[in-house]
Amino acid sequence: MIQGPVAIILAAGHGKRMKSDKAKVLHEVCGRPMIRYVVDAAFGAGAKTAIVVVGYGADQVRSCLEGTPDVHFATQVQQLGTGDAVRACQPLLEGYSGPALVLVGDEPLIRPEPLSDLLQRHKQDKAACLLGTAIVPDPTGFGRILRDSAGRFLRIVEERDCNPEERKITEVNPSCYVFELPSLWDALDKLDTRNAQGEYYLTDAPQWLESMNRKVVALPVLEPDDILGVNTRQHLSQAHAIMQARIQDRLMTDGVSIVDPRNTYIDGRASIGQDTVILPFTVITGDVKIGSNCRIGPFAHIRPGTELESGVEVGAFVEVNRSHMETGATARHLAYLGDAHLGANVNVGATAVTANFDGKNKSRTVIGPGTMVGSGAVLVAPVNIGANVTIGANAVVTRGQEVPDGTTVVGVPARSLPKNPGV
Ligand code: UD1
Ligand code: MG
Repeated sequence: MIQGPVAIILAAGHGKRMKSDKAKVLHEVCGRPMIRYVVDAAFGAGAKTAIVVVGYGADQVRSCLEGTPDVHFATQVQQLGTGDAVRACQPLLEGYSGPALVLVGDEPLIRPEPLSDLLQRHKQDKAACLLGTAIVPDPTGFGRILRDSAGRFLRIVEERDCNPEERKITEVNPSCYVFELPSLWDALDKLDTRNAQGEYYLTDAPQWLESMNRKVVALPVLEPDDILGVNTRQHLSQAHAIMQARIQDRLMTDGVSIVDPRNTYIDGRASIGQDTVILPFTVITGDVKIGSNCRIGPFAHIRPGTELESGVEVGAFVEVNRSHMETGATARHLAYLGDAHLGANVNVGATAVTANFDGKNKSRTVIGPGTMVGSGAVLVAPVNIGANVTIGANAVVTRGQEVPDGTTVVGVPARSLPKNPGV
């Protein structure tokens, strides 16, 4: 039995204007496919079940969402329009009565808050259709909302079907609807293809519900940024910029300094502690965890699976990948740390690297607290370096070596220096 409220997310189109082999909704904004943001927004707004309508690139879209709880798929065999896409969900929703939040998969900036408002209003208003609308400075590309002289909703007109007067309307249809089921099915039965694109338009459904004396309300609850629809690569980069600004704004509100936001990239899944400073040209990807009072950049690349504890410094041209740096560890210049664990206060010199990949397998490097890794040192993983070790400049610590606590190793391959060279 399907649990409501239900969200229906339309994602069957190809998105021809993207000029891509990939389904449009799989293009990424700030490191995540667009469709994932829409699914998250639907659940964030209170949906209990999501049905994603797939068609073009169906297998890719399914595998992108594979394993997400409460997500189901409906297949639209031919892309005959948005109304037809919703109808593809009917077999899955047999017997369901209640609200259906209908969204499109190509609006990744949609936030859960206005959608949750719409669902709340639907509870109170008992409308057959609640239409979220937005008033935008440039309505190009959107369907327009027509109202009568008393401001009551009349119908949606697609841009291609607009007359010159209708084109000037700035209240638009962002494709965020709450429909009451099963009423919606009656309206979808009425749709035809007499329009400029020869498609079954979902946008005609509200008007059909009105004509059946069912209540339809259009509410301008959405902001222009929420509804940026991605139809081209240009739109994709605009969506990216807005999403990046939102991510950084949230971090700054939480006490992170970002010196030059426009020249910084931070993944939305990253968490960063208070009083950490992010210097320009830093790129942070994936679900990275950065503690408080760290100093990152300029030109640092922090990659997925990395955790930096408090007071860590990662400086210019340092890449940290799937690695853990404990409190006070530093790598200030030109280094690669991959699959490494650095104890507290480890210092990594310029151009030192962990050689973690032998062509087939990745191996780990463990460095104990207080160890100094000299400039240009190469640590060929797997290696295990103790605490308070000194590794000489340009030393190569070969695979499988265990370097005991407190020792000094130098040379190629690295060997221990006697503690007291005079004896
Ligand atoms: C649609 C709306 C328009 C609205 C705009 C932005 C219609 C007829 N028009 O136009 O009023 O202003 O979105 O929100 O609904 N899709 C399918 N199957 C299809 C066709 C489309 O699943 O047969 C999916 C697409 O994958 C896409 C979404 O529906 O995610 C919207 O389709 P798109 O072609 O982008 O519609 P717009 O022209 O943007
Ligand atoms: Mg669109």
